[in-house]
Amino acid sequence: MGKLLDGSALAKKIRIRVKTETEKYINEYNIQPHLAVILVGADPASETYVRFKEKACNQVGMKSSVIHKPADLSEESLIELIEELNNDDSVHGILLQLPIPKHINSERVINVINPRKDVDGFANENVAKLSKNQDALVPCTPLGITRLLDEYNIKTEGEHCVIIGRSQIVGKPMAQLMLQRNSTVTICHSKTKNIKGITKQADILVAAVGKAHMVDDSFIKDGAVVIDVGVSRVKGKIYGDVNFDRVLDKASYITPMPGGTGPMTIACLLENTLKCYLDLVGNKND
Ligand SMILES: NC(=O)c1ccc[n+]([C@@H]2O[C@H](COP(=O)([O-])OP(=O)(O)OC[C@H]3O[C@@H](n4cnc5c(N)ncnc54)[C@H](OP(=O)(O)O)[C@@H]3O)[C@@H](O)[C@H]2O)c1
Repeated sequence: MGKLLDGSALAKKIRIRVKTETEKYINEYNIQPHLAVILVGADPASETYVRFKEKACNQVGMKSSVIHKPADLSEESLIELIEELNNDDSVHGILLQLPIPKHINSERVINVINPRKDVDGFANENVAKLSKNQDALVPCTPLGITRLLDEYNIKTEGEHCVIIGRSQIVGKPMAQLMLQRNSTVTICHSKTKNIKGITKQADILVAAVGKAHMVDDSFIKDGAVVIDVGVSRVKGKIYGDVNFDRVLDKASYITPMPGGTGPMTIACLLENTLKCYLDLVGNKND
């Protein structure tokens, strides 16, 4: 039977460490780390995620400001807001909660965020740095997955990592991080032929699709490490991409859902906020 990759437990450890460091730096610099979160519109899932992020910041002694704007906010007004936050020295991290309404060009506005305050690591400068193995702000979900792999001493070098999903948020940065760890990486997506034939070769399988219980035991080989990123709401219930009960016996390690990649994403957001703070405040004071 597979062992659990306990994201809740590791996230708690990270939160405790970030809290201690935050207290130390507030004493040293007399400035509180501050994350500004922009929420446009009233998507209930986004509102929930933003509440989680706000609570997590407050628990570790960081300030968080949620700036909630109506769904009909213009692209220019959003850009002006981001520029204000870029110019505000008391703000160290800026997070634009996605998805944003369709009339706004998300690529354009994401790239207005100062790359040094880009806690999500979605701006072009951070994407380019990650792809060149340079120090970057790395998207929180894939970063959290690598933290979990490290915590459980899971070998990545030479292993075949198959990622289902090629988004900018999860799939592509995950692939970059696994290449950095010397895995052999395959990315599958909606046009991939014979997907099971590929996923069955995976030593490490990351499912980041958003299709409830798409991955069952027929997708994996014995002893694979299985990471579930997907979150789907079906008739008010939340499902991962992985059918946990069907896969548990075959996997060597598996993330639970909930309690796997979700809490790790938030823990890594706190780490990234502290990283931005140290870059902006620490460097100025050293
Ligand atoms: N746990 C967390 O903290 C966390 C964080 C972020 C996201 N999520 C969840 O993770 C999931 C993925 O997020 P995302 O932002 O990456 O989503 P996304 O942008 O919608 O990307 C989904 C990817 O899955 C691929 N796909 C769709 N149907 C497929 C199929 N039948 N077979 C193979 N591939 C298929 C798509 O292929 P194409 O590119 O060909 O369309 C796309 O690359 C969502 O459920 C999201 O809610 C969870």
